[in-house]
Amino acid sequence: MQVSELTQSEVTKALKSSLDALSAIGTAEELRQSKAQLVGDAAPLTKLNALIKSLPGDKKAEAGKMMGEAKAELMAAFEAKAAELEKIARAQRLEAEKVDITAAANYIQRGARHPLSLLMDQISDVFVGMGWEIADGPELENEWFNFDALNFHPDHPARAMQDTFFVSPVENHLLLRTHTSPVQIRSLLERELPVYVLCPGRVFRTDELDATHTPVFHQVEGLAVDKGLTMADLRGTLEHFARVMFGPEAKIRLRPSYFPFTEPSAELDVWHPGAKGGPRWVEWGGCGMVNPNVLLAAGIDPEVYSGFAFGMGIERTLMFRNGVLDMHDMVEADVRFSRQFGQVI
Ligand code: DAH
Repeated sequence: MQVSELTQSEVTKALKSSLDALSAIGTAEELRQSKAQLVGDAAPLTKLNALIKSLPGDKKAEAGKMMGEAKAELMAAFEAKAAELEKIARAQRLEAEKVDITAAANYIQRGARHPLSLLMDQISDVFVGMGWEIADGPELENEWFNFDALNFHPDHPARAMQDTFFVSPVENHLLLRTHTSPVQIRSLLERELPVYVLCPGRVFRTDELDATHTPVFHQVEGLAVDKGLTMADLRGTLEHFARVMFGPEAKIRLRPSYFPFTEPSAELDVWHPGAKGGPRWVEWGGCGMVNPNVLLAAGIDPEVYSGFAFGMGIERTLMFRNGVLDMHDMVEADVRFSRQFGQVI
């Protein structure tokens, strides 16, 4: 195309249209995308510039000068705009990435197994090591298993409403088991003789929570039924158990007592060499030779078989073994308490 002249007003118009477009741009990203339209190949000034080469020779110099000035002005405006938008983008980025270095660290606390679970596992290991099996039974138990089959007389005080959580309707004879002893009966009914079982589990009594009581607690029950078992077997088993739990200097003592499901019955004390405040005897649990009536309830001939049984509280064991003074610590589920016993998996 042959052009005869390039006027200042054409150049100014092209420049103004680019400057107007430039001032309408709001972000660095928009600016980058419109660069070709504003100052690149597609810009009005660039298009005018292309005409210079077809101007008559004497017009070229002047046109070139006009164009040069306009381009310089546009480029300066473009650079200024780019710098301004970059500044805004940077400020936004900094705002978005802001961290409060004075804020308290928000780290995830690592949990720990509850010491009662650890202790029950440890006790189970002692007996599994002697070839015993682990048995369990329901926490919602039938009154017959919890009391009758264990030779509790129908009006034994332990059945009374004050101790036992009966589940309504009462005619269903369901209760929250008050001890792990019903697992003795279940194990005898379910297994072939001889039976050597350890039953750790949760039990319930209508006690108020205080420093030494909780309505939900744990016991471990042991039962051995075989031919020819005597009180010497009971003693030997408990002594071994005591030594593993309390150290090689531990020993046990049996004091005559009464439980409906054992005859004879004894209170079990343990000599605790590491007791807080020095070595001493501590009441640990109950035990005895399985009452023949219990064997009969499970269909076993007491003339052929005999057995021994024992039971103790896990919370109580943890308290005197590890110097825990308040039951509340065991039920509050504060990981700081559990962590003291190690993060054993
Ligand atoms: N079941 C009894 C209780 O909760 C504890 C107990 C005593 C269990 C003597 C036994 C035993 O196996 O032989 O107080």
